Amino acid sequence: MTANPVSVNSNACLISPEIGKSYIAPAHPPLKLGVLASGSGSNFEVIARAIQNQELNAKIPVLIYNNPEAKAAARAEKYGIPSILLNHRDCKSREELDTKIVKTFQEYDVEWVVMAGWMRIVTKVLLDAFPDRVINIHPSLLPSFPGIRAVEQALAAKVKITGCTVHIARLEVDSGPILMQAAVPVLPDDTAETLHARIQVQEHKIMLGAIALIAESNRKYCD
Ligand code: GRF
Repeated sequence: MTANPVSVNSNACLISPEIGKSYIAPAHPPLKLGVLASGSGSNFEVIARAIQNQELNAKIPVLIYNNPEAKAAARAEKYGIPSILLNHRDCKSREELDTKIVKTFQEYDVEWVVMAGWMRIVTKVLLDAFPDRVINIHPSLLPSFPGIRAVEQALAAKVKITGCTVHIARLEVDSGPILMQAAVPVLPDDTAETLHARIQVQEHKIMLGAIALIAESNRKYCD
């Protein structure tokens, strides 16, 4: 049996010339995610593994890291994902780093940007190049405890519940429309390390949930 001929329009939807209208073919093109990571890269690896296990209709054309020590690079190698070091120390400004990031992501045809433990403040240069298409993960229930040391902030505030958030990134640090959150109880004996470890278990779930949500809304948009 011959498959129907299809073509790809600018929104990357599959179009059937016979039917004359766009439709979603089963093999919808995977979402192309450019990932930014500064450290351990556990969130990055969760995404890479879900893609490898065909649990997410996505692909990661490239990982960018800014810190030569970032373990994320070794994780990328394990999954055969190209990784590129763009060291912020080699840049005169945040804008210069973001300009290099945008250029790299454009070369790799990235559609959405995932800040998976990206410890740099992003600028208009990145956000304007990918409008409403940059997501960030943060280890608190935003809008509580934005900025650095969110887990320590939660402990110092003696809250009973904290958690994690995936949101669309805006210029103000750790702000923007929330896509998904998970709550994590603070236990009486928690240290920053034990609490962060339990938050990360939830981070890995909402990271995948948020990307699945994006992939689904992308599909609907193309319909
Ligand atoms: C996560 O806790 C994330 O919320 C924060 O940085 C950490 C990165 O962890 N922005 P990993 O590198 O993904 O393990």
